[in-house]
Amino acid sequence: MFEHIERVPGDAILGLIEAFKKDTNPQKVDLGVGVYKDDQGKTPVMRAVKEAEALLLKNETTKTYIGSHGAPSYGEVILPMVLGEDSPVLDAKRASATQSPGGTGALRLAGDFIAKHLPGKALWVSDPTWPNHLGLFPAAGLTLKKYPYVDADNRLDFDGMLAAIKEIPEGDVVLLHACCHNPTGFDLSHEQWQKVLEVVRERGLLPLIDFAYQGFGEGLIEDAYGVRLMAESLDEVIITSSCSKNFGIYCERTGCLIMVAKDHEQMENVRSQIAIVARENYSNPPAHGSAIVSEILQSAELAALWREELTEMRDRINSLRRDFVDALKPFGLDQKFACVAEQRGMFSYTGLQPEQVDRLRDEFGIYMVRSGRANVAGFSHEKLPYLAEAIAAVN
Ligand SMILES: Cc1ncc(COP(=O)(O)O)c(C=O)c1O
Repeated sequence: MFEHIERVPGDAILGLIEAFKKDTNPQKVDLGVGVYKDDQGKTPVMRAVKEAEALLLKNETTKTYIGSHGAPSYGEVILPMVLGEDSPVLDAKRASATQSPGGTGALRLAGDFIAKHLPGKALWVSDPTWPNHLGLFPAAGLTLKKYPYVDADNRLDFDGMLAAIKEIPEGDVVLLHACCHNPTGFDLSHEQWQKVLEVVRERGLLPLIDFAYQGFGEGLIEDAYGVRLMAESLDEVIITSSCSKNFGIYCERTGCLIMVAKDHEQMENVRSQIAIVARENYSNPPAHGSAIVSEILQSAELAALWREELTEMRDRINSLRRDFVDALKPFGLDQKFACVAEQRGMFSYTGLQPEQVDRLRDEFGIYMVRSGRANVAGFSHEKLPYLAEAIAAVN
């Protein structure tokens, strides 16, 4: 039965990780992988998470199923985190939270819901976008289309984006990155969000907002600007949230699908269908990650510790962005790479070309994907001079 199955090449990032491991260059730098790293190159467990886990272990009384929507306490803490403590959307009880296996699980639930209940509607993603969007939505049966996002000079192509969105057929779904756009790092300003909102409203589009990096860009509240604007201004919005990065609980698979509907009644209708979609996929989500998040956000003390640690991570990334550009000044390359200091989140489209990326890997042991996307958290203050010298050598 399996004779005809062909082997496909592995994920490019996994290949990069393997090559990095084998590289004996003591100066080597990994800018490929998609997780946060500290100055020592480690992805540590946050202290707030460790403390929450100790409490959970002590107080846990059962490991029974938690239901298709997940733990109610998780929804109660995620909704205000994403939509705001005083959200009119929450006051109107028109938002529903469904715990999911990571942000990816929430995206798949959204994809399945759209395929089942909005048949014939295409999904529009930015070009480029997170590569997994390109696989998981067609796997759910959706037709994928693209709108431009970056121009030939490696700048946000907002005019191109807006012009393309204006042409999207009524009722189609448009995927927007809430903040920390992956892979480019280019985010929309408040004014640009407002313009997108106007077009979305005019064209009668359904926004699907991927919110995987809340707190990694400018702050927990600041990063939610576009999400809250859309949810408060429109009748219907789909939001996928992830706790993988901001709580550093990647392997615990903790995300949330938030469905915003016109009113409470319609929200409950939609919610009942989401339970079916979740059941048909995996029945119930895993419990541990959501229990950690609830434990932290329900405790003023743990929440304060978590916010402090998150701020440390964000500040580190943003200072590395600025210092990277400064380190390129002596080589006259600071203007060319100024975009790195303006971008937000873990990733940057550096503007490095595939041949330059190859040379950085082969001659300097610096690893990143060939698109020139670098994980800024993989920089370290100690290695910045080496990185700058290497980049100057290939420019
Ligand atoms: C844009 C984007 N969306 C969603 C996710 C999903 O994250 P996870 O499934 O690990 O929570 C990621 C993770 O890298 C991402 O970059």
